Amino acid sequence: MLPFSSTFLVPPISPSFIYFSRFSRFHFSPSASASASASDLLRLTSRRLVWETKAQSLTTMATEHDECMGSVKGQLAKLFDVSLKVTVPNEPDVEPLVAACNGKFGDYQCNNAMGLWSKIKGKGAQFRGPPSVGEAIKNNLPTSEMIESCSVAGPGFVNVVLSKNWMAKSIQKMLVEGIDKWAPHSPVKTAVVDFSSPNIAKEMHVGHLRSTIIGDTLARMLEFSKVKVLRRNHVGDWGTQFGMLIEFLFEKFPNFEDATETAIGDLQAFYKASKQRFDADPAFKERAQQAVVRLQGGEDKYRRAWAQICEISRNEFHKVYQRLGVHLEEKGESFYNPYIPGVIETLTKQGLVEESQGARVIFIDGINIPLIVVKSDGGFNYASTDLAALWYRLNEEKAEWIIYVTDVGQQQHFDMFFKAAKRAGWLPHGDTSYPKASHVGFGLVLGEDGKRFRTRNTEVVRLVDLLDEAKSRSTAALIERGKGEEWTEEEIESTAEAVGYGAVKYADLKNNRLTNYTFNFDQMLSDKGNTAVYLLYAHARICSIIRRSGKDIEELKSKGTLVLGHKDERDLGLHLLQFAEVVEEACTNLLPNVLCDYLYNLSEIFSKFYSNPECKVIGSDMETSRLLLCEATAVVMRKCFNLLGITPIYKI
Ligand code: ARG
Repeated sequence: MLPFSSTFLVPPISPSFIYFSRFSRFHFSPSASASASASDLLRLTSRRLVWETKAQSLTTMATEHDECMGSVKGQLAKLFDVSLKVTVPNEPDVEPLVAACNGKFGDYQCNNAMGLWSKIKGKGAQFRGPPSVGEAIKNNLPTSEMIESCSVAGPGFVNVVLSKNWMAKSIQKMLVEGIDKWAPHSPVKTAVVDFSSPNIAKEMHVGHLRSTIIGDTLARMLEFSKVKVLRRNHVGDWGTQFGMLIEFLFEKFPNFEDATETAIGDLQAFYKASKQRFDADPAFKERAQQAVVRLQGGEDKYRRAWAQICEISRNEFHKVYQRLGVHLEEKGESFYNPYIPGVIETLTKQGLVEESQGARVIFIDGINIPLIVVKSDGGFNYASTDLAALWYRLNEEKAEWIIYVTDVGQQQHFDMFFKAAKRAGWLPHGDTSYPKASHVGFGLVLGEDGKRFRTRNTEVVRLVDLLDEAKSRSTAALIERGKGEEWTEEEIESTAEAVGYGAVKYADLKNNRLTNYTFNFDQMLSDKGNTAVYLLYAHARICSIIRRSGKDIEELKSKGTLVLGHKDERDLGLHLLQFAEVVEEACTNLLPNVLCDYLYNLSEIFSKFYSNPECKVIGSDMETSRLLLCEATAVVMRKCFNLLGITPIYKI
């Protein structure tokens, strides 16, 4: 069942969810003794609670969300639900199956008849087969101003033709009240989106760029759905490599506090040089290992050196975030260190952690390698940190949905660690109840040669350079179009940024995230085809139509009337109305490409309408209505851009 679907009953509150809210009252202080904390945790986790799942009926939901103007599919599902309850009163659990069909028989379809028939046949029902079930579903449908007509086709599909008047009124209402009225209703209040998350002093590579772009979009879609989103940058700021880096810093800069970014230069080169030193000189290696111990022991000088290295990296990451307009809150791996011992101890007391070849591990059903939570040298690792972070997010931050955006290469790590969390009772079994953890994996970025993306002369791509190139190429394109004479420098600059960065983002987001995609500036910056440039220009053109009309669009919104008389107008109207359910789907399945497809189709459908001489806008009898339709298209396009992290442009 989809969490965002309006046919969704209140999420089945799982036992773990309830005891977590109690569990979390226990403050897991980092300084508290680990063993005392662990026993408290254990006592609380083993407490059994009796609860009642309050399955709210759809009818109550319907009245509660009457104000919801969103998802057409959801609104139809409510009507069909009423019909199903009357048609088959003995099958109260049947959920309405409604889908857009945009076919010749109708706009939407209810597909329950066939499934229902196989459930009820032989039970003495009055029906003769699926078509007669469909007929009854149709007849029992409450009257609604949404529906113009209804018919049964084939083996029992109930087709719905929406009322043109209702469609036009809904669009106009959105124009007056704002597109936020079309936002999905999320079943969760708080979510963590763990994204970007580069590693200190190591390269921030194109994989991190993908994570940043995809994660930001997911966060934006959830925020639009009124979810409180904790945008977490889980930077790799801890680990044994810091001993080496700190020792090298001391060696190169006896007054290490002076080691500013400019003095160090490229931190990645610094990392490489220190690694070479580490591998070549045993005495240095020894000192580096000592440095790790002293850092972990909290020795001031070592902490300060560590903080300084982190700060230099952070400034570099920041340049990328600034260009992309992405906001993140850093809680790096080091943040969760103090929580690890208590969490491991709790899991041990629950009997989950076992000894294996000197390490402490959690075995997972169906996977032949265990999840190592304490290394054989007693140190903690990526998995221990992730367990502690999950504990923190569930209990301290009260997140109900925790989303991790990384390359698919890490899928097994997440799979194993989610299963461990389920074994521990932190997360419910199954994926339909909350709290929930989801791994959002993505494929590689490839170069023209089909291999992992790299730039010509360097081994890795400096992301800042990459983004700067996108911007300078768009600047050149604007100058070529003669905008240098027409526009101010600021206008050129802001448009080049919107187009350049937008192109990089859109080229990434439009693909199904699991597939690899090829990075190609020429393609992504082309003004033809499914690109951000094409879409941004399409939007700017619509804005210019409205400007050219010389009409005050705000006044038209309240005084004018929108009608969908022509077929092309109706098609455009239907697509506009489907915005809400598309965002809902993209958000539920964590698939930004669904929204990109919608946006591209919107601009195609708009073109069809606008280029049809029968739908002339300016100077026609239908000017007001058509201007309102143009405005609605522009508003929906802008919301799509906004959700995709792309800045719209208003003139070309
Ligand atoms: N720093 C990791 C990397 O670069 C990504 C971290 C993802 N988040 C997490 N909670 N494991 O691969």
